[in-house]
Amino acid sequence: MSADAGRLRSPAMSSSAPSLPALPTAELHLHIEGTLEPELAFQLARRNGVRLRHPDLESLRRAYSFSDLQSFLDLYYELTGVLQQPQDFTDLAEAYLTRAAAQGVRHAEVFVDPQAHTGRGVPLEVVMDGLAEAFRTAEQRHGVSAQLIVCFLRDRDPAEAEALVPLLRPWHGLVVGVGLDSAEVGFPPELFERAYALAADEGLHRVAHAGEEGPPAYVWSALDALGVERIDHGIRSMEDPSLVARLRAAQLPLTVCPLSNVALRTVPDLAAHPLRAMLDAGLLVTVNSDDPAYFGGYLHDNTAAVSRALGLTAAQRRTLAENSFRASFLPDADKARHLAAVAAAADG
Ligand code: ADE
Ligand code: ZN
Repeated sequence: MSADAGRLRSPAMSSSAPSLPALPTAELHLHIEGTLEPELAFQLARRNGVRLRHPDLESLRRAYSFSDLQSFLDLYYELTGVLQQPQDFTDLAEAYLTRAAAQGVRHAEVFVDPQAHTGRGVPLEVVMDGLAEAFRTAEQRHGVSAQLIVCFLRDRDPAEAEALVPLLRPWHGLVVGVGLDSAEVGFPPELFERAYALAADEGLHRVAHAGEEGPPAYVWSALDALGVERIDHGIRSMEDPSLVARLRAAQLPLTVCPLSNVALRTVPDLAAHPLRAMLDAGLLVTVNSDDPAYFGGYLHDNTAAVSRALGLTAAQRRTLAENSFRASFLPDADKARHLAAVAAAADG
């Protein structure tokens, strides 16, 4: 697969405007299952003898049109069915890290949904060991470091999440934290208070999707009930000035995903995206790709497209890149090294 295959159909590349440089960046909101490109899905379906509902690539591509988060999740979970052996997870992560490296990503904190796999009989070690193999080689091949954030599926019994936490012990080091994803509305963060307390006791970092489709109250509860250190999406925080004041005062990072928000219709188009308002409000925001195989672009595609639509300045793009490392769970020395690389790239 070519290193920049993911860019061929990206919105950022379809413009005739000069391309914006990709700065060194950390990707902090990326679902590894959301990097499954249709071609690889068919290849793995053939490898594993899985029959997809879509007879061919063209028919599958037509399914990539979503009305909301749930309509996307239906396809996302269907296609995860092709991931069965360690090699499948390795191939998936290698393809992502190759593309990400070509778009300036130097560090990735990668979400994985173990329950989406164990729930259909794929053992946890198949998922974790398969991904670990790809992460090991990514540093040598591409100079990209990667760790995992294990997400709990919020539309499943919180007891499953609580049971998952101690099972992660063999992979501490690979796993840097826990997160919360899947269908948001009707599944408030506080349902997972115990699971998050258990994760904190294990020394794991905590993040959660909140305020993507759900109300600002879910962001408050992710902060207060779960003790999260970052909010994933969080764009609806802008509806609540007292929440914005709190996020600004704490400089609590928000991992924003512009192309995802448009594809899932949480914002009508990029020109209406709140990213610039979030920057102007003094929030510590980062740009990320969420599920790039589904939403039309990898990390720099997101940055370039939203920068153009909102008229972001070079200084604002540099702030976004710097924020990504500041908001990461990297040790301070690594953050300093990456921030120096951003400065060198931005000044050069
Ligand atoms: N799982 C994968 N992508 C997601 C998203 N954007 N929101 C919630 N859950 C997800
Ligand atoms: Zn997400």
